[in-house]
Amino acid sequence: MQVNISLKKVIDNSYDITIDTIPELSYDTKVAIVTNPKVAGLHLSYLLSKIRAKELYIITVPDGENYKNQGSIDLILESLFNHRFNRKSLLIAFGGGVIGDMTGYASSIYQRGIDFVQIPTTLLSQVDASVGGKTGINNSYGKNLIGAFHQPRAVYIDPYFLETLPKREFGAGVAEVVKMAVTFNKDFFAYLEEADLSDKTLLQEAIKQAVETKAGVVAKDEKEHGLRAALNYGHTFGHVIENETAYKKYLHGEAVAIGMVMANALSVKLGLMKEEEALRIQKLLEKYKLPTSYTIENVERFYEAFFLDKKSSDASITFILPVGIGGVKITDSVDKDTVLAVLETFGKE
Ligand code: NAD
Ligand code: GLY
Repeated sequence: MQVNISLKKVIDNSYDITIDTIPELSYDTKVAIVTNPKVAGLHLSYLLSKIRAKELYIITVPDGENYKNQGSIDLILESLFNHRFNRKSLLIAFGGGVIGDMTGYASSIYQRGIDFVQIPTTLLSQVDASVGGKTGINNSYGKNLIGAFHQPRAVYIDPYFLETLPKREFGAGVAEVVKMAVTFNKDFFAYLEEADLSDKTLLQEAIKQAVETKAGVVAKDEKEHGLRAALNYGHTFGHVIENETAYKKYLHGEAVAIGMVMANALSVKLGLMKEEEALRIQKLLEKYKLPTSYTIENVERFYEAFFLDKKSSDASITFILPVGIGGVKITDSVDKDTVLAVLETFGKE
């Protein structure tokens, strides 16, 4: 005997991403803003001046990647249960990518899923993390290994928040902007070469272009069956660097910047990119004081560490390789000797 359950419905998860001053937001449901003490101290009063809700709560979790874990999720869920949130209630993620990923994940599991809105406050979260519905937390096995695809109902990107962002954090966000341009949009790359992103108007335009690029990719491949993996350009190498330096020396975007330089070297070696193009990318990263060099102590160990990355299957390593500027190839068939030869160029003299 066999019973078929028909689930062929078309679900429309589309949403708008507003890049501008936050509008007046009004909700006739219970709403909880999830944030951390740093962001709350700097910007919560401004946000509160914009929001009306039937009942409004603030949930504060500790700041930092170290708290992107089940403990913080429990804290958020506990508060939702205490305040009798129901399936129509809404969460607002107010902070950087850590807050965004955790709030999204909490909203994906609370009573099997409620809506959430992203109000990202770092450049990295404005151009990348808040868009596309990847949510999650870390555990002892690695980063972002627990999570769900859960799209926000809306994203409000207000560049005003970036005025309080430390320079290094800003640079880390620029790395992800460069990532979008190199992989998908050569005109955008040329724009970044010309523009000074300390100019607010030029920055807003760069945010728009990065978000448009990412939105286009997510629309084609929401759950990362193929194309979306290209957004991990620089990350295969970057994750190993973060790991080797115990997540202490580099911000994520900084490790990705070095990772992009390494991926470019591999592309050049494979004839996918010209040396001059690799140098243009490096120069752009250096314009924003991003690190572009790294000494690999042990090339063989660095190579083995690729296999710890969840994006690599057991038998192969997935490399995201730029094809010139504005194109990308996703491949798991680069032979070990070629990779080692490139890693050697970053090895000790
Ligand atoms: P973060 O959230 O830790 O923020 C960095 C620091 O800046 C924190 O101390 C934060 O409190 C502070 N901060 C936030 N806004 C500020 C402001 N306006 N002024 C001053 N300080 C401010 O880090 P991040 O770089 O925003 O995000 C990194 C996280 O994003 C990682 O956990 C990563 O896994 C995740 N991520 C997710 C996606 C995705 O698609 N979901 C994509 C990229 C990164
Ligand atoms: N940051 C990569 C992605 O959203 O797919």
